[in-house]
Amino acid sequence: MHSRSPALHNYFFKKYGLAGSYVPLAIPPERLEPALRALAPLGFAGCNLTIPHKERALAIVDEIDNAARRIGAISCVVVRPDGSLWGTNNDVHGFARNILQHRPGWRADAGPAVVLGAGGGARAVVYCLVERGAREIRLVNRTRERADTLAREFGSSVIPLDWEDRHRALDGAALLVNSTSQGMIGQPSLDLRLDALPSIAVVVDIVYIPRETPLLAAARRRGNPTVDGLGMLLHQACIAWKYWFDLDPEVTADLRETIEATIPKT
Ligand SMILES: NC(=O)c1ccc[n+]([C@@H]2O[C@H](COP(=O)([O-])OP(=O)(O)OC[C@H]3O[C@@H](n4cnc5c(N)ncnc54)[C@H](OP(=O)(O)O)[C@@H]3O)[C@@H](O)[C@H]2O)c1
Repeated sequence: MHSRSPALHNYFFKKYGLAGSYVPLAIPPERLEPALRALAPLGFAGCNLTIPHKERALAIVDEIDNAARRIGAISCVVVRPDGSLWGTNNDVHGFARNILQHRPGWRADAGPAVVLGAGGGARAVVYCLVERGAREIRLVNRTRERADTLAREFGSSVIPLDWEDRHRALDGAALLVNSTSQGMIGQPSLDLRLDALPSIAVVVDIVYIPRETPLLAAARRRGNPTVDGLGMLLHQACIAWKYWFDLDPEVTADLRETIEATIPKT
């Protein structure tokens, strides 16, 4: 219901003059498999998946790529010419491309990263940071066991921490990422004191409704560079178009403004 994907992808259909459209489909979990199998006969080029389907779909599609396997979730399905289904996780590249568009010199190995959350979004973030050479990822999650699981899966650079330690964990960090649902419209703000965070640390929120979450507003006020979550959504959508239609749309100012206009600012 919150998704901006229909507005976003239909912008691309218009831009390229393609006779097609992107539709939101509310599929109950028990109907996911027949729904995915119906994509090919119904003439779909593919689909995106959101909560709660990302993990379950992994076991349904015919083939997945390495990123999806490591993350344990797919966000994008491609219908191949023979009707079989291929799954990948575009959130990974969407996350990195978004930061790089705002901070072209950004490097994952610039210093310790603090990632809050251990759900589907966090898994893509952690995978991305590990792949890009991050040496220390402090992973803080409300449910400690989920952070432990991620640390086991992604290796020794991921250090799981208790939720109570989140304020202290910011000491000396070069990157802070919120990948919890806190700060999203309808949810309480993320309860985090930024005092220990160096002012040069890049602060990223993958929540994109509102555009400026309370975390990003607080970080901006104290002088930290900030990156909002909308860009991640826009970039992962561009990547999907390469898979679906072999086209390379870019995240332009016009695209951003068009989608921003549909999202409350604060
Ligand atoms: N910008 C993008 O393209 C993009 C992509 C993916 C996701 N997102 C956004 O990222 C957010 C998370 O999505 P997701 O798919 O990762 O969701 P998810 O799998 O449901 O995970 C939610 C995370 O938030 C934590 N959390 C929930 N309530 C909390 C609370 N009261 N205090 C502290 N932590 C709490 C959960 O901790 P527990 O483990 O303790 O439950 C978990 O780590 C959503 O707002 C989503 O829209 C954005």
